[in-house]
Amino acid sequence: IISPCKEHLSMKWLHIELMYLTGFGNEFASEDPRCPGSLPEGQNSPQVCPYGLYAEQLSGSAFTCPRATNKRSWLYRILPSVRHKPFTPINCGNLSENWNEVEPDPNQLRWMPFTVTKASEKKVDFVSGLHTICGAGDSKSRSGIAVHIYTCNTSMINRCFQNSDGDFLIVPQKGEILITTEFGKMMVEPNEICVIQQGMRFSVDVFGETRGYILEVYGAHFELPDLGPIGANGLANPRDFQIPVAWFEERTVASGYTIINKYQGKLFSCQQDFSPFNVVAWHGNYTPYKYNLENFMVINCVAFDHADPSIFTVLTAKSTRPGVAIADFVIFPPRWGVADRTFRPPYYHRNCMSEFMGLIKGHYEAKEEGFQPGGASLHSIMTPHGPDFDCFEKNSTAELKPERVAEGTMAFMFESSFSMAVTKWGLETCQRLDKSYYKCWEPLKSHFNPNWRPSSPIV
Ligand SMILES: [Fe+2]
Repeated sequence: IISPCKEHLSMKWLHIELMYLTGFGNEFASEDPRCPGSLPEGQNSPQVCPYGLYAEQLSGSAFTCPRATNKRSWLYRILPSVRHKPFTPINCGNLSENWNEVEPDPNQLRWMPFTVTKASEKKVDFVSGLHTICGAGDSKSRSGIAVHIYTCNTSMINRCFQNSDGDFLIVPQKGEILITTEFGKMMVEPNEICVIQQGMRFSVDVFGETRGYILEVYGAHFELPDLGPIGANGLANPRDFQIPVAWFEERTVASGYTIINKYQGKLFSCQQDFSPFNVVAWHGNYTPYKYNLENFMVINCVAFDHADPSIFTVLTAKSTRPGVAIADFVIFPPRWGVADRTFRPPYYHRNCMSEFMGLIKGHYEAKEEGFQPGGASLHSIMTPHGPDFDCFEKNSTAELKPERVAEGTMAFMFESSFSMAVTKWGLETCQRLDKSYYKCWEPLKSHFNPNWRPSSPIV
């Protein structure tokens, strides 16, 4: 009985103690207060850095990218990252970049909540609990995406992870995660998201059974969507993004600290005898960050018709084709529904994009049942989808008064222009596929009345 309370107290303490810088993509500067003056002034690479630190640049864009997209940070650390033993391949578990493991499946797919192994059965940390469910493209050509489910019950101990292939957008669904990065610490709880960009090392502490979703993008970084006629404000506002502050540990690990590197779709590990979280100060615009979905300023229809879900875009990873995303991260937050003479739930739809959905909490508005928190669905390119029978019938006759929509709910979508393949784990191994999903549309019946005339109402 005492132990959970202690755990709870320590989490509260962390929430209070953790500090953040704010602003999306700003030029930040941070130094651990234990070492004042550790950030060199007026230059990046002094002959000798303050406190005898090593200077190391982490590049997130080509050196020559235009200023608007140029990303890099300078890290001032006790030892440089290069001081490690050679990388060797390790077992990838259920992490995969093989999109040809099983035959393509264009059906509507829905998964029941993914199983989290109990710690008493087997200890699983964030990296060993990564499962690739679908994706497309190729990390070698820097083009594509992958969707992973993480389920874990144990903190990473003397282990950190680095994704050389792309960015991770992490969506916790169950359990807070404390992420220690080279830039500092972030606590991310369900209904918040975080982005760990390509190459940034991080380690994840958990506080019980933990589950969430990851959108990995190989060839681009996430940015805020353009607002067009919406104007200067709205949707996810830049000031609400939080960035960790510098924090370091000078810790020797005689037994070996393991760096796990996801490289060209495979996992490799190497050993070093010190903690990689040895960055005393840093500056730059290439950082991890987090965002609370409660801060999303929702724009929606106030007259008639159902707006396209792009109005709910939090972050986008743009392709080189104008207006076409490699992947958008879209949410369906609590809001008012007020549209007149309108079928208010999402419309029936066939899309040239892939739509992967997850549910953080609550009850999704287009499905009366079956889509549960911690589960998922995939509506592939041109695969028909839309409200189930109950949702259609109820909302075709409902009195159209102002009402709260999605109260207590947070559903999200990873929408991609890539045609995603489902992995063997997703279709078979996880054993969470709901084979009866198609049945939610079977009762839909024809309301066609050839005798209908403009003056007669449909009944
Ligand atoms: Fe859709």
